[in-house]
Amino acid sequence: MGVPRVIAIDGPAGSGKTSTARAVARALGFAHLDSGALYRAVTLAALDAGAGESAEAILAAAAAQRVRLIPVGEDFRPEAGGVDVSVAIRSERVTAKVSAVAALPAVRRWVNAALREAASRHAGGVVVDGRDIGTVVFPEAPVKVFLTAEPEERARRRLAQDGRPLDPASVAAASEALSRRDAADSEREVAPLKPAPDAWVLDTTGLSFAEQVEAVVRVARQALASLDVRPQAG
Ligand code: CDP
Repeated sequence: MGVPRVIAIDGPAGSGKTSTARAVARALGFAHLDSGALYRAVTLAALDAGAGESAEAILAAAAAQRVRLIPVGEDFRPEAGGVDVSVAIRSERVTAKVSAVAALPAVRRWVNAALREAASRHAGGVVVDGRDIGTVVFPEAPVKVFLTAEPEERARRRLAQDGRPLDPASVAAASEALSRRDAADSEREVAPLKPAPDAWVLDTTGLSFAEQVEAVVRVARQALASLDVRPQAG
């Protein structure tokens, strides 16, 4: 097998990974896979089932509700209980709980297997975004990007995305909530949030969304071009 056509985009909450990954996928004609959506869908299923804290109970709830990502065109839609949960997984109760669920090794193994399976069905290429895509899920990805931005800037983007006010008190509160989640994601033992040694780190604080997408597309095109001329090994 050759190198997989995977572009890994990792970074902290509010760095714009998911929207950037979607736009980069469109520009390159790749599919887009949001790993956080799967962690969120598992968390939602666990909360709805009152599953408690153990990985076994959480995964049993996910299995009972048939949590999965359904390919829809060049995107994947999170589903639980046979319905589209794209909106429900963004609720505050899911956001508050998801980092604890994602810290469980058995949950991570389950999610990683689902991500690899989904990617394998898109031989044309897939952009995958998350926290550990370049380090753990697809360490052999030929393009790895790590997006960062200052916490206040990330808080502003997240509030704007949710249509909420951008006054200083709201920005400070959102920035603190993001920092708490970043700390939980960075300090956990399994697959902590950190750039892969071969990742290209891009600080997007002063960049517009279009500039950020353009920069990633440029780097990805270069890397993919050199990949395509390499002879395929057996
Ligand atoms: O979009 P946002 O930055 O709010 O987060 P997300 O990508 O939806 O991910 C939600 C949570 O899932 C993160 O805070 C992590 O705890 C976890 N996650 C993870 O551990 N590994 C991933 N590859 C993706 C998400």
